[in-house]
Amino acid sequence: MTTQAPIRVAVTGAAGNIGYALLWRIASGDCFGSNQPVILQLLEIPPGMQRLEGVIMELRDSAFPLVHDIVGTDNAEVAFNEADAIFLVGSRPRTKDMDRSDLVAANGPIFVGQGKAIDAVASRKVKVITVGNPCNTNALIASANAPSIPPQQFTAMTRLDQNRAVGQMAERAGVPASEVQDVFIWGNHANTMYPDPSMATVGGQSATEVFDEEWLQGEFLNTVSTRGKAIIMARGASSAASAASAAVDHMRDWWQGSAGRIVSVALPSEGWYGVPEGIVFSFPCRCEGGEVTVVEGLTVDTFAQAKIDENVAALLGEREAVSDLL
Ligand code: NAD
Ligand code: LMR
Repeated sequence: MTTQAPIRVAVTGAAGNIGYALLWRIASGDCFGSNQPVILQLLEIPPGMQRLEGVIMELRDSAFPLVHDIVGTDNAEVAFNEADAIFLVGSRPRTKDMDRSDLVAANGPIFVGQGKAIDAVASRKVKVITVGNPCNTNALIASANAPSIPPQQFTAMTRLDQNRAVGQMAERAGVPASEVQDVFIWGNHANTMYPDPSMATVGGQSATEVFDEEWLQGEFLNTVSTRGKAIIMARGASSAASAASAAVDHMRDWWQGSAGRIVSVALPSEGWYGVPEGIVFSFPCRCEGGEVTVVEGLTVDTFAQAKIDENVAALLGEREAVSDLL
């Protein structure tokens, strides 16, 4: 028997591919804990409402003990009402001929209205993860339209990129993923991202000793940073189950703590590592007591600095391109 009061968890695009994987992980307790009941508040656009009804039927048929209620709606203020945690997923995925930044014209405006709705009705302590692409800049748009909520409560997801980096290192070293720790992502969820191996360990040994520099700066970097496109080419659709899993990892660590581990969170820069204030940038972070803290003082080598600079330039360009939405 659980005794805790239920929390309100909103998911947008709930009838989409990521939603279909994400909702079952939230409902089973993987994200907020095995004793934490949830009220699911699910948002779709009108053409998605019939599919959402089917998803809700299946959720009820799964009889999760932690799910105390399910609300399905096409009204953002209903979905975000008193929400404690929000997964901003609903938006268009790219096709194989596009970059993620090409989605900003179609998806950016979604985050204006949703930011305003969050501002109006969500819990003042709400934790928001933005998954819909281009996720860093969409998080910025949502935050700019929710001026009464502190910007640091709006984050974007680079945990999938971190998990991809872990997967690549584990496969090459022939060890389980659990043996790889503290690899993290700098920058934008885009091809410019930088998976930084400098703090990473593999079976307790420094990753920069386990792997040669040629692999780390070549095949490893290229595989991680272009993995989204590779999945679209292979599957004919963008990553969904792994994206949902990474969203759970991101929110679980924010909610429950990262147990001292370094994790990747994209959040509005306060000038850390020389990154201009305000752009939503992925940094090495630790989570404790419901707070995300950027790990400061790490050594940044010349290669990493050049990659950070590239990401700063790209995100400043994206911010400029959406200035009318901020
Ligand atoms: P999908 O097309 O399967 O589902 C998207 C759902 O969102 C649809 O059901 C659609 O009706 C709904 N939707 C569209 N506009 C909406 C709005 N304004 N409000 C609420 N719902 C809305 O797509 P998907 O595979 O679930 O991907 C969703 C997004 O996540 C895409 O933008 C994709 O590029 C992105 N993504 C990001 C990452 C990441 O690592 N950050 C990883 C994978 C996918
Ligand atoms: C991913 O990284 O898998 C997602 O951002 C989807 C995409 O468009 O690559």
